[in-house]
Amino acid sequence: MAILVTGGLGYIGSHTVVELLNNNFEVVIVDDLSNSEKFILKNIEEITGKKPDFYPFDLKRKELLTQVFDAYSIEGCINFAAYKAVGESQERPVDYYENNLFSLINILQEFKTRELSNFIFSSSCTVYGQADEMPIDENTPLKMPESVYGKTKQMGEEILIDFAKAYNRKISLLRYFNPIGAHPSAKLGELPIGIPNNLVPYVMQTAAGIREKLSVWGDDYPTVDGTAVRDYIYVVDLAKAHVAALKSLMSKESDKATIDIYNLGTGKGSSVLEVVKAFETANNVEVPYKICDRREGDITIAYANPNKAEKELNWKSETSLEEALRTTWEWQKYLESRNN
Ligand code: NAD
Ligand code: WQD
Repeated sequence: MAILVTGGLGYIGSHTVVELLNNNFEVVIVDDLSNSEKFILKNIEEITGKKPDFYPFDLKRKELLTQVFDAYSIEGCINFAAYKAVGESQERPVDYYENNLFSLINILQEFKTRELSNFIFSSSCTVYGQADEMPIDENTPLKMPESVYGKTKQMGEEILIDFAKAYNRKISLLRYFNPIGAHPSAKLGELPIGIPNNLVPYVMQTAAGIREKLSVWGDDYPTVDGTAVRDYIYVVDLAKAHVAALKSLMSKESDKATIDIYNLGTGKGSSVLEVVKAFETANNVEVPYKICDRREGDITIAYANPNKAEKELNWKSETSLEEALRTTWEWQKYLESRNN
């Protein structure tokens, strides 16, 4: 019995594969390496002492996916595979809809015909848009996201809810807040491909001298110091939540629809400048920055109420912002050592 992990060599996927292997799950990875690299597989093996089976193909290639389902007895899937760059999604909407939705539908076709259940979907706090009240719990009304990327997440959720209801299957929608940090071994982390859009990779590269200065997008928000606030969750804590969600899903009755939805965050908001300061303190380095205009499409504030996950999954985030940012810096040093 195996768990199919799509996008399992990516940032969150690779950390989750480690946690699954540590919990004695058999793991099969499908990843087309469109945003990841093969050395991550070797590093997963170094960390866990186990080598998951790996198939490097695009999930849109239905015939190859069918072969994987033929070859294994799949007892669940965690579907990380997706394109995730918000800006790029506005420029290449058709590619984003195609990749993020066709991949999902191809897997669901296999699940449907083979009577499989236990499907976990990587969703995002972006489905809430700018919520009217903080913290954001699972009953907070959804708002159609502005970005194409965000829309693929909201549409993915809808598709899965219909799937669960129509065929009596068990699904879990995990809405991540802002994942950060790297594995404590420094062998897994977020691969910086091109100029980072997200805050922490940009901070990391600025501290390393790869970027001259961080642009802080706006200091006139109604927040503690005028900069926007997010809920930064450590990636290993997030990975552990997947194992908890999977075990919970698998323990539930299989003859009726289950739709589990969890917000995965720390419950604490941090401003952009608080992140910069925490990075400097944790690593004893400087992060030069300049204040710029607001970034289009940004929201002011978002942080989770993670109580439902704590109560039902017995999971909560444990790692401090500084500790997470310390692992980020170790990862940067590891990447530098690989380049030398
Ligand atoms: P990532 O890009 O590091 O990982 C995604 C992986 O999927 C990559 O390894 C990529 O090569 C692979 N992939 C993409 N399309 C594929 C396809 N058609 N076939 C096979 N493999 C494919 O991203 P991540 O940060 O690990 O995010 C994982 C998931 O979590 C994504 O669905 C993302 O939308 C979601 N998410 C991420 C964040 C975040 O800030 N990182 C926040 C909320 C939700
Ligand atoms: C965080 C804060 C920026 C870069 C995005 C996606 C969302 C989700 C997470 C997947 C904001 C500020 C950033 C920089 C800055 N992904 N910032 N200078 O905006 O919360 O969300 O990633 O689902 O869908 O939209 O994350 O890391 O881009 O930004 O000042 O160079 O840092 O303005 O306030 P965000 P982020």
